[in-house]
Amino acid sequence: MEKLENYISLEKLEVVCNSIEEAHGLPNECYLEGGYTKFERKLLFEDKWVVIGVASNLKQKGEAIPFNLLGIPLIILKDKNDKIRVFHNVCSHRGYKLLNEPCKIKNALRCPYHSWAYDLNGKLVSTPHIGGMDKNDADGFVKSRSDLIEVRSYVWLDMIFINISGNQIPFDKYIEPLEKRWSKFWTKEDQNLITHAQDNGYFLLEAKCNWKFAIENYCESYHLPWVHPGLNSYSKLEDHYHIQGLPNRFAGQGTLVYNPRFEGGKIFPNFPNWPSDKEEIAEYVALFPNVMLGIHKDHYYVYWLEPVSYNYTKEHMDIYYVGERAAKSDEYMSLRKQNYEQWHSIQSEDLRIIEGMQDGRQSPAFNGGNFSPVMDNPTHHFNKWVAQELLSTN
Ligand code: FES
Ligand SMILES: [Fe+2]
Repeated sequence: MEKLENYISLEKLEVVCNSIEEAHGLPNECYLEGGYTKFERKLLFEDKWVVIGVASNLKQKGEAIPFNLLGIPLIILKDKNDKIRVFHNVCSHRGYKLLNEPCKIKNALRCPYHSWAYDLNGKLVSTPHIGGMDKNDADGFVKSRSDLIEVRSYVWLDMIFINISGNQIPFDKYIEPLEKRWSKFWTKEDQNLITHAQDNGYFLLEAKCNWKFAIENYCESYHLPWVHPGLNSYSKLEDHYHIQGLPNRFAGQGTLVYNPRFEGGKIFPNFPNWPSDKEEIAEYVALFPNVMLGIHKDHYYVYWLEPVSYNYTKEHMDIYYVGERAAKSDEYMSLRKQNYEQWHSIQSEDLRIIEGMQDGRQSPAFNGGNFSPVMDNPTHHFNKWVAQELLSTN
């Protein structure tokens, strides 16, 4: 059995967990090519609740899309009861990867190799000639032992979460600290209103860097004046506060001056139960490991990361409004476009920065970094989470 310490110094990870004044950031090995990545895949992705997409992407029963989580092939599908289900994307016969393109499954998903077929519950329903010519059953072969393997999944605020190892506490318990925090902004009734924008509701940014830089950057507002001068002209650094969630699962920042302004003076409808004394508060929270959320009185977004390799990350942005009219009607199309453009431009400003962070990590002289004890707390919080999760199995 390989050991983490063969790839990374455990002492360096312990230093990350020190108090912020005494800590350094995660060491270079966590961002560069090498054997470390496989430990990260197991401990920070397979063993955690992670986001692999949004449910709005699957509209009709039978829709299925393939997704690779750090090389692990998966199928996301909508079953006959409109439930999102996730399966390992591998045929139980000889291991062919079943699904390569999004598709609409009518009755069964058929393997192209020897034509075994599975229904929308992952049940093996057809095994042609398995017992010899024209014999579709075989003595001693028990079909039910060869169903597709389902992955534990849960949909929350339209995000599809999975826990591949099946080891985590139930998702509703897992998310309790963040739900509790946000219960002062919106109720379940408000949450049920979120509707994916019909147009201007999605963009993809491709970051030539490690996924962790996106989370670290999202956690802090320290960079606002220099990286986002436009944003900083109305939502200034001093109007922000830190968020550090306990247990140690999320971090981020909030603003006290959210005040959307669009051409023509029109505004989006608000969540009906959002308290009037909190209208100018918006929160930006990274839920570890791989999703960044934004909640505002009039819209919500999911900015989720697909780590492809140690230095390549796809950033998926999905935007939601309050109810069908705001999300779909022509009446709000111009506003949706303006809001989309604003987020696209802000997240693109960050993209340039996080790619530069990848370059910096090539320096053998870098010690992981020295935090501002006042401005970098949420970023340190995330680094500590990574270090602790890695160390906890050693
Ligand atoms: S590998 Fe799928 S049917 Fe043979
Ligand atoms: Fe930023």
